[in-house]
Amino acid sequence: MTTPAQLADDGLAPAISLAGIEKWYGTRDAPVHALAATDLEVAEREFVVLLGPSGCGKTTMLRMIGGLIAPTGGTLTVEGQRLWDGENRRSEAVSELGMVFQDANLFPWLSIEDNIALPLELKGMDKARRRARAHELCQLVGIKGFEKRWPRELSGGMRQRAAIARALSYDPKILLMDEPFGALDAMTRDAMNLELQRIWMDTGKTIILVTHSISEAVFLADRIVLLSPRPGKIDTIVEVPIPRPRRSEVQASETFQSIALALRQRLAEIS
Ligand SMILES: Nc1ncnc2c1ncn2[C@@H]1O[C@H](COP(=O)(O)OP(=O)(O)OP(=O)(O)O)[C@@H](O)[C@H]1O
Ligand SMILES: [Mg+2]
Repeated sequence: MTTPAQLADDGLAPAISLAGIEKWYGTRDAPVHALAATDLEVAEREFVVLLGPSGCGKTTMLRMIGGLIAPTGGTLTVEGQRLWDGENRRSEAVSELGMVFQDANLFPWLSIEDNIALPLELKGMDKARRRARAHELCQLVGIKGFEKRWPRELSGGMRQRAAIARALSYDPKILLMDEPFGALDAMTRDAMNLELQRIWMDTGKTIILVTHSISEAVFLADRIVLLSPRPGKIDTIVEVPIPRPRRSEVQASETFQSIALALRQRLAEIS
């Protein structure tokens, strides 16, 4: 795996760059300092995981990168384009981003195929091409044959697969995922981690994923960014030098165990 440092040496611009990005929320009482000024660069095709105690600003950071909420200060660039100009979002940069949340958020009155193709319909793609793309994506995420079903007819894991397919529909370069498997049972979650690694390797996306699970972080990440409690700031960045593709068994390896243990200890110290 190429490291971010090597990519920088190759002269490739980072996929995502945060410079002094900060967030204050206005509330009825005192303003809340959710994220302290943060610098972070994520390389093209890198898999970065955000980890940290509840309320430390992980979702806040991801939603700013996703163009959903405006930073209070700093500069954020996506694929070389400024995403925020003060409170104003620049739409060109947003088209490079796909988002997946903890709940699949599928529309219950649309078939799986129509849910996946919805972003394409909004972009004006004709029906035949939308359908072809939806079928291709169902195959990619492992729900081939379920195109015509309703969301309620799928299991939680399958609905998350559909949500990933929908986020990939318009081929964004970057996938942002906020605890995408947090609501799944442990076994389904392990299977989804393997699948996500495969999808990431097949598609060459840049991914930022938020999780509470240390083992999920170590299994998936090239780099783990550990945030400290509010106001969130980067405490530690840990590289995971385990070769890909990683199989479930790597979790028993010494490297995996020692990274997980170090993270667990550091989390306990800062929480
Ligand atoms: N819209 C909002 N208005 C005011 N405060 C907010 C708002 N959204 C989040 N916060 C506060 O900002 C801080 C960071 O919240 P955020 O949701 O980013 O944390 P998180 O790391 O994602 O937590 P969790 O792990 O529980 O999902 C929290 O203290 C939260 O209460
Ligand atoms: Mg959150």
